[in-house]
Amino acid sequence: MSEQLRAAPARLLVPEVVPSLLAADFSRLAEQVDLVMAAGARILQIDVMDGQFVPEITMGPLVVRALRDLVHERGGLLDCHLMVERPERQIDSFAAAGADVITIHAEATPHVHYALQQIREAGCAAGLALNPGTALEVVEPVVDLLDLCLCMTVNPGWGGQAHIASSTDRIRRLRNLLPGSIALQVDGGISLATIEGAARAGANLHVAGTSVFGAPEPAAAFTALRDALLRAVR
Ligand code: DX5
Repeated sequence: MSEQLRAAPARLLVPEVVPSLLAADFSRLAEQVDLVMAAGARILQIDVMDGQFVPEITMGPLVVRALRDLVHERGGLLDCHLMVERPERQIDSFAAAGADVITIHAEATPHVHYALQQIREAGCAAGLALNPGTALEVVEPVVDLLDLCLCMTVNPGWGGQAHIASSTDRIRRLRNLLPGSIALQVDGGISLATIEGAARAGANLHVAGTSVFGAPEPAAAFTALRDALLRAVR
């Protein structure tokens, strides 16, 4: 387990807004990370896309390595969402680059069990992401290998998409399927209009890209989302 997670494995279970760097200004990435961490962000999501599993190509271990010290020195975690085919081939590179959490897609490999084992053996927290069209029951054979389950609330591949309204029922059913020791994350179209419904349905980690970095003031946008989240779970 990474040093940060070893110190507090339960930190994935508290309510958090998780800024997604996919929507950040990459010409000043470190500054954007600093901005939201100064506002209280403690988990940053790195959206990795390979142009195969999803049409776009985005970022890889290089970006994780570039941000590792900045994020870890401020007590933060790097959460890598691998939207890539056969993620088992990439896990060691992301772990070596400094990832704390690595999430793979259930749809991206026939070797989900093996890949999740590999993530934990590499010292990271293991996450499994489910696309909106994937049956929730796929988590059952691997629930003992999970630290996090990601219920996608959009189809992966782009930021700025509309939240799929039927996701709320999936979040609620998934929360009931998973032991309380497993964090439930949502990703896609999370904003002031959707975060409270997702939180009340049982999600505790809320990935937000456009609603944070697409705002004129990302720090203020992060704070408003976090305050809405805390009101919802009070
Ligand atoms: C999948 C990506 C996006 C991103 C968040 O395409 O995982 O969901 O992180 O996108 P926003 O918050 O801009 O909808």
